[in-house]
Amino acid sequence: MNTGKLTPEQIAAYHRDGFVIVKGLFDPEEIKLLREACKTDKALDDHAFGKDDGSGAMVRLSLWNHPGDGIYGMFARCHKLVDSVEQLLEDEAYHYHSKMIMKDAKVGGAWAWHQDYGYWYQNGVMFPDLCSASIAVDRATLENGCLQVLRGSHQLGRVDHVLTGDQAGANLERVEEAKKRFELVHCTMEPGDVIFFHGNLLHASDRNNSEHPRWSMICCYNYKKNDPYKEAHHPRYTPLVKVADEMIKQVGIKRFADDSSNVAWLDEKKDASARVLKEKAAAN
Ligand code: SIN
Ligand code: MN
Repeated sequence: MNTGKLTPEQIAAYHRDGFVIVKGLFDPEEIKLLREACKTDKALDDHAFGKDDGSGAMVRLSLWNHPGDGIYGMFARCHKLVDSVEQLLEDEAYHYHSKMIMKDAKVGGAWAWHQDYGYWYQNGVMFPDLCSASIAVDRATLENGCLQVLRGSHQLGRVDHVLTGDQAGANLERVEEAKKRFELVHCTMEPGDVIFFHGNLLHASDRNNSEHPRWSMICCYNYKKNDPYKEAHHPRYTPLVKVADEMIKQVGIKRFADDSSNVAWLDEKKDASARVLKEKAAAN
């Protein structure tokens, strides 16, 4: 099944650190097609929603459940990405959702420290070992709010999450203690680089104070054996049809910025994991 691109050293690093960065997984031509498509895509913009970061600044994102047949789908379904994820998950991967993080110049808000499994736990997912692949669409720097991670923090297990602004963040006392124990890594990336990270890795990002946008497309994968036990706003096991890597360029050129077919956009009101936390906060 597996023709993944990761070396044994990269796989070992992922299990030890909770993440691994692969430089240049997508070439400049591929990433240019993605960047030009997403930045001119009206559907993506129309479906974007904001989450207050607690300081009044907004993080903007669009989220969809099924990868589709357009250029976003070609990235999320291509062998070089999905086979690599399967090397890390050691099982058949399925697409849990993808999202575009749109951290615009000067205004893009911060993401509070959190674990993705802090949200996904609410969705009937039993094991935390999902894998997210964040593809740098723009260069990610310290100034434009690159992703930050605490190396090895996935070993903590799931931390309680509470609401900060509209975002669910990990319990702050725990985060402060975790910062004393795990190295803080700023994941600066060039367009086309990909960071694969574990569902329990603590991660965050600062507000974008620079003149440069920082967009990333994050493709999240669950695995067949970890099929959620109940329905939620992200899919249960659904076979993922992989495509040849060459399809990115074929589809990118042919169906430029026309990717809304078969993409199931997610309305923020359906984000049950955030709703559960809101209800808990209201009850306390
Ligand atoms: C996220 O956690 O979904 C986004 C983090 C980031 O890319 O800044
Ligand atoms: Mn996250």
